[in-house]
Amino acid sequence: MRNFIVLSFLLTAACGGGEKSEAPPAEPAAAEAPPAAEPAPAAAPAAEAAPDLAAMPEADRTAWLMKRGQEVYAQGATGGIACTTCHQADGNGVPAAFPPLAGQKDHMGDCVKHAGIVIHGLNGEITVNGQKYNGAMPAQGAMSDADIAAVITYERQSFGNSFGPCLPADVAKARTLPAPVLK
Ligand code: HEC
Repeated sequence: MRNFIVLSFLLTAACGGGEKSEAPPAEPAAAEAPPAAEPAPAAAPAAEAAPDLAAMPEADRTAWLMKRGQEVYAQGATGGIACTTCHQADGNGVPAAFPPLAGQKDHMGDCVKHAGIVIHGLNGEITVNGQKYNGAMPAQGAMSDADIAAVITYERQSFGNSFGPCLPADVAKARTLPAPVLK
């Protein structure tokens, strides 16, 4: 079990799973590039290019969070490991090792608590959908608030969940609180 986790880490590190190279989504209004601009030196890290989510209409904001969240889930982000490494592409996890993310409301229903799991990682025995797990999820609080809000929004709205979107402000709040304790 521990070996499995260590192996996952090594594989992830070896494959550079945390890197991210795709350009962030362009805003329709920002589509005209300045004519004199040299070809941009690749994309800036997407986290820095996050739009002002608080100022966006709700539907656009949720769409951005879902799209970015899917990327972070599948590819990782600066400071975070691709969630798919352990929880799998379908969110079903691995029996007895990694819990499914078709999660329970008392684990995932609250944005601040949910963000806390990603920021602090998780250890100790928990029960998900009647199955016990006792593993170690690595802390990934080095990801930006926007990336964490995105990946948890994606989780909350995928795999049969419908817990609603979360915002970077929820992540910022979670950073001020102790690690959540789950059962
Ligand atoms: C190295 C493996 C690993 C990676 C990568 C990982 N997790 Fe986990 N995750 C775990 C383990 C193991 C647990 C259960 C910990 C325990 O037993 O206390 C867990 C638990 C969780 C839970 C609580 C599960 C529930 O249904 O109650 C959530 C939510 C979660 N992870 C989200 C994420 C997100 C989001 C990412 C990507 C940013 C991620 N995890 C990346 C291993 C991982």
